[in-house]
Amino acid sequence: MLERLSQFSVCLVLCAALGACGAPPPASEETPRSSGVATTGAPLRLPISLNALMVALVNHAADPIWLAAWRTPESDADWRNLERMALQLEVAGALLVVPGTGPMDDAWTADPAWQAWSNRLRDAGVHAVDAVRARDLARVASAGDEIVDVCEGCHIAFKPDLPTEGMFGELSPTASDFEEEAPVPE
Ligand code: HEC
Repeated sequence: MLERLSQFSVCLVLCAALGACGAPPPASEETPRSSGVATTGAPLRLPISLNALMVALVNHAADPIWLAAWRTPESDADWRNLERMALQLEVAGALLVVPGTGPMDDAWTADPAWQAWSNRLRDAGVHAVDAVRARDLARVASAGDEIVDVCEGCHIAFKPDLPTEGMFGELSPTASDFEEEAPVPE
């Protein structure tokens, strides 16, 4: 039951996010927009902490976008995958304004500066989506730069030294991970 409620909450947020991107509004009712928090009924709450969302969604989706700058997507499948990652980043930005189960989540999401950084992540995600759909690597790279600025900006303002729930991201691979292995002398 709880789980289904949570899924419903996420669905509401997704709908709000999509609506903000130009989908036609539902015929009758007015839907709350932009803050991502419902004005009636129980406030939305994600079923996981924002720390977990950061690791499982934000960081996970951002890595392939950065990597694409030097490891050019080759097949249609590569590009489709990149498009999905960019969409995930856009949605992650939209979800970040909703508190989850982490100890600091309510305080963070109530802060207008937090909301502004989250919106900027969502916008950077939109730029990445557009760039990927245009299959324009230079624009993918500049969307990647924009994304880095947003991650850094919000982390400088809000991120504690140690994650509140102990969830760390993996270390991102670097360029050298994709270079040909030098032949090992016998
Ligand atoms: C709206 C603010 C905000 C934005 C934007 C943001 N982060 Fe975070 N991030 C945080 C906060 C706060 C934490 C610490 C969460 C906790 O401790 O509960 C965190 C934690 C993390 C963690 C897990 C902790 C760790 O040290 O490994 C990773 C990984 C991470 N962020 C990556 C990213 C990446 C990559 C981006 C950009 C694509 C990004 N974040 C954008 C606020 C933000």
